[in-house]
Amino acid sequence: MLEIEHLAAGYGEVQVIWDLGLTVGSGEVVALLGANGAGKTTLLKVISGVLRPSGGSVKFHGCELSGLGPEQVVKSGISHIPEGRQLFSGMTVEENLVMGAYTRSTRGLSSGLERIYEIFPELSNKRKRQAGTLSGGEQQMCAVGRGLMSDPKLLLIDELSLGLAPVVVERLVRAVMEVHQQRELDILFVEQDVQLALEVATRAYVMESGRIVKQGASQVLMDDPAVRQAYLGL
Ligand SMILES: Nc1ncnc2c1ncn2[C@@H]1O[C@H](COP(=O)(O)OP(=O)(O)OP(=O)(O)O)[C@@H](O)[C@H]1O
Ligand SMILES: [Mg+2]
Repeated sequence: MLEIEHLAAGYGEVQVIWDLGLTVGSGEVVALLGANGAGKTTLLKVISGVLRPSGGSVKFHGCELSGLGPEQVVKSGISHIPEGRQLFSGMTVEENLVMGAYTRSTRGLSSGLERIYEIFPELSNKRKRQAGTLSGGEQQMCAVGRGLMSDPKLLLIDELSLGLAPVVVERLVRAVMEVHQQRELDILFVEQDVQLALEVATRAYVMESGRIVKQGASQVLMDDPAVRQAYLGL
């Protein structure tokens, strides 16, 4: 259960997020929509402890996260798959996956890896390959796998579909949704493909200039004329 209240954040003097509230309940898949520069990535960075907020609170299962660093946030059960994947391209697939488990003891590491190779068999015979030599889709699988290695309770995903063919996106979405169902993994995801986002998510928020301007059940937003016009081109 993630609860964000009155959040303010930015870079130096420049405030990007203003008085923002958002929740992700147990069992939920929530989408975060908004135009380029709205502040979606900034919000995920604040939740994951990469960026410190200047005000407000971020609570996870009742515990205050703001002020904690990335390592402590991962330990609390939140994992972040960043925009642009950010793999270590000169390291192997397996080394990248192991990086995702850095907060865990080595016990359970090999079973954790095997679980990822079960989710993404495509990666199994490429485990010794340099991540930078994989296709875009395989790199995203590796990024998702790395995110799952800490066995999170909440997964933050920034632009899963970016630059990938629809069939690959479908494959990735199916895999993530299976983990959601089997492992009681809650998900908050940023997605440019609004049609896809509203199909996958139960609820969504729309961000504009650092503020939440709309929220509701996916079906309600899909039928909203303003959303249809601005984001679905209908
Ligand atoms: N490291 C940074 N330093 C200064 N300003 C930044 C930095 N990163 C982002 N910004 C600014 O913060 C605002 C929000 O950026 P952010 O990346 O959070 O948007 P976004 O909604 O993720 O956009 P996109 O859809 O393009 O990924 C933008 O005005 C951006 O220029
Ligand atoms: Mg972004």
